[in-house]
Amino acid sequence: MKLIYEGKVKAVYDAGGGKAVIVFRDDITAGDGAKRETMKGKGAINAEISARLMEVLEEEGIETHFIEYRRPDRMVVRKVEIIPLEVIVRNVAAGSLVRRYPFREGQRLDPPVVEFGYKSDEYHDPMLNDDIALALGLCTREELEHMRATALRINDVLKGFFSERGIILVDFKVEFGRADDGRVILADEISPDTCRFWDAETGDVMDKDRFRRDMGDVMGFYRALRERVLAG
Ligand code: TMP
Ligand code: ASP
Repeated sequence: MKLIYEGKVKAVYDAGGGKAVIVFRDDITAGDGAKRETMKGKGAINAEISARLMEVLEEEGIETHFIEYRRPDRMVVRKVEIIPLEVIVRNVAAGSLVRRYPFREGQRLDPPVVEFGYKSDEYHDPMLNDDIALALGLCTREELEHMRATALRINDVLKGFFSERGIILVDFKVEFGRADDGRVILADEISPDTCRFWDAETGDVMDKDRFRRDMGDVMGFYRALRERVLAG
């Protein structure tokens, strides 16, 4: 298969017929790739979690690029043109939000906070507003509105899904792409690399913050998260 895109932890191949295959590698990075490690089995866990969550969203009527999970570390998807925006939804203050503004970590955000970032390692994914996204020609106003509304629907579905499993969905990042018919659909991945998950009982961190903040046992918690995502 022809390589279309090589990211820091995933590679995307053209599978023909309007399809692509995403291969999740065992790499884990933080700080725009400044910190990196390899963890055996991590790619497979993220692929399986991402595939299941995309399925859940499809069942709720949210259009995604997902076609099928290919064991152990691949997803077959519709080929899309990725819009270089990171759409972040936050239910609880954490991460860069508490570094940039006077929120305290753990503070509930109701209604949820939506942020757009410009996807660029060179510029360190700066937050941008609607006008900047439009002036950069990244998307249309209608597409922006659609992404914001869809991200909030995704939040509603996933918040409920995780709450039933005793997990707080603190925040997450999603990306969208244009399909060949011009429709803007959910793309990329949804995994412990791109979300924050806290155990509702113990407060345990079950996501990539374990790596970013050197909390240890990254794989143990990723495995536990997979069990709970696949349960029920
Ligand atoms: P932040 O608190 O660092 O801004 O991150 C918010 C959420 O977005 C968190 O769940 C991690 C996720 N995220 C990514 O998936 N990729 C990124 O490049 C960044 C900056 C955040
Ligand atoms: N900056 C991103 C993160 O820490 C990803 C990366 O730097 O590799 O989530």
